[in-house]
Amino acid sequence: MSYENIIVEVKDNVGLITLNRPQALNALCAALITDIGGALDQFENDDNIRAIVITGSERAFAAGADIKEMADYDYMDVYKNDFITKGWTRVASCRKPVIAAVAGFALGGGCEMAMMCDIILAADTAKFGQPEITIGTIPGAGGTQRLTRAVGKSKAMEMCLTGRMMDAEEAERSGLVARVVPADSLLDEALKLAGKIASFSAPVSMKVKESVSKSYEMTLTEGLMFERREFHSTFALDDRAEGMKAFAEKRKPDFKHR
Ligand code: HXC
Repeated sequence: MSYENIIVEVKDNVGLITLNRPQALNALCAALITDIGGALDQFENDDNIRAIVITGSERAFAAGADIKEMADYDYMDVYKNDFITKGWTRVASCRKPVIAAVAGFALGGGCEMAMMCDIILAADTAKFGQPEITIGTIPGAGGTQRLTRAVGKSKAMEMCLTGRMMDAEEAERSGLVARVVPADSLLDEALKLAGKIASFSAPVSMKVKESVSKSYEMTLTEGLMFERREFHSTFALDDRAEGMKAFAEKRKPDFKHR
């Protein structure tokens, strides 16, 4: 498939999506969102792909939804089409692990898209923010919800109410990102991390993702039960048998991803 606004590559067992609208700092126009959806469909249908990386440019992961595209929308346009649920939520609904590798600006919808991913790896140049208030609107793709869960109420309120950007160091300190790496090694580190995940059993990593994600949706009691049942279900997998057998035999497991 060919895409206009992204570059799609396969690196061993990892699918790589590079946002590619440099003239607009990767602003997330509708066509770009459709492209991402297509690439994720392609990767999810490919058994060879076991982890996915989404990245941008040195200057910007994404500077938000495309403001120029949104400028002429009226209430009925966004309400009737349920802007932004179509397409945007494709990232959050991906069942394979997704890493956001963020350098430069991750603002508004860009920050929200990074937060839809499972792990955020930040370059030391990364800047996160929800500046929607400065253009007369509010976050619409999870900024008030996922940011609050990640960094707590006070900091999320401050960021959403003032548009202040958070640098990479602060983002790591407050739990928004997993790790900060030098900008020139961001992609290598992201691919290494994705490669590590891809080296394990695919159904098991999907179960980890489902289980951790459920912790946002459920009470502790329900979440613990969900986790326990998922744990039990791994005993139906060949890979669970192989993993434990390989440990006992002091050799590397040979996972078949089933
Ligand atoms: C459309 C954008 C854009 C955006 C940047 N550009 N951000 N176009 N939508 N979100 C364009 C600029 O218009 C400019 O185009 C080019 O990219 C380079 O940007 P500059 O502003 O010249 O760069 P710089 O001075 O370095 O400033 C960088 C910046 C600034 C701080 C990131 O561009 C900025 O504030 N952007 C908007 C950030 C924002 O408000 N995001 C939230 C959007 S609302 P030209 O043609 O002039 O060269 C949102 C809501 C999501 O995301 C809700 C769910 C969908």
